[in-house]
Amino acid sequence: MSSAVETRPSTSLGTNGGGDGPRHVAIIMDGNGRWAAQRGLPRVAGHRAGAEAVRKTLRAAAEHQVEVLTLYAFSSENWRRPEEEVSDLKGLLGYYLERELDALDKEGVRLRLIGDYRAFGPELVARLDKAVERLSGNSRLTLVVALNYGARAELVAAAKSLAGQPAEAIDEAAFAAALDTAGLPELDLLIRTSGEVRLSNFLLWQAAYAELLFVPTLWPDFDEACFAAALGEFSARQRRFGGR
Ligand code: FPP
Repeated sequence: MSSAVETRPSTSLGTNGGGDGPRHVAIIMDGNGRWAAQRGLPRVAGHRAGAEAVRKTLRAAAEHQVEVLTLYAFSSENWRRPEEEVSDLKGLLGYYLERELDALDKEGVRLRLIGDYRAFGPELVARLDKAVERLSGNSRLTLVVALNYGARAELVAAAKSLAGQPAEAIDEAAFAAALDTAGLPELDLLIRTSGEVRLSNFLLWQAAYAELLFVPTLWPDFDEACFAAALGEFSARQRRFGGR
């Protein structure tokens, strides 16, 4: 762990054995629908290709010694999509977990869920809980999947959980500890694919000091090289920050 005194809470400087890589990377995986439309395919084909991009990105994150990878897989706004697409996304999530569980375990991946994923129904919830349990002993990389997640709802829930406490006891640390992301390292880098330049209610508190990177690549085309390029951009910004 870094013992350097830093002017912002990011823990990325001087960590990872002295490297300047991010400890915690989050991604808004956007552009599956457009990727499918460009090929005349149904949207579900874009989500399927997006699941493959998840596999590649996870591998790249582990190789680059990223400690936490947080993925926005289903926002609380996604319920507004057609029923068929919601059902496809849920099915894909269950399928991906089942198919990848052994590989995730072998690669030392721990799984954590944020958001109100219990809304997904008992069958998927049971599979999700089982996967979390099965991977709970791992420590190489924590994969955080945001499911039925919305940052404003997370902040409101945190405020409610702290409401009974004396005002003096509520500081930034107490607030951070009441969020779904409690205990995770500070978010260093937030990437959004597909050229959209919005946070869309994702990790609003956690992104306070993160580097934000918006790339034109549609999510299904995102791969190991794209991840490495994002880390390169992050490191270049860190060097500029450190040189001030
Ligand atoms: C955004 O593209 C993507 C999503 C809403 C879903 C992301 C889900 C996956 C990549 C599937 C599997 C996830 C895991 C963790 C295994 P969009 O549909 O909004 O694309 P568009 O903006 O081009 O329409």
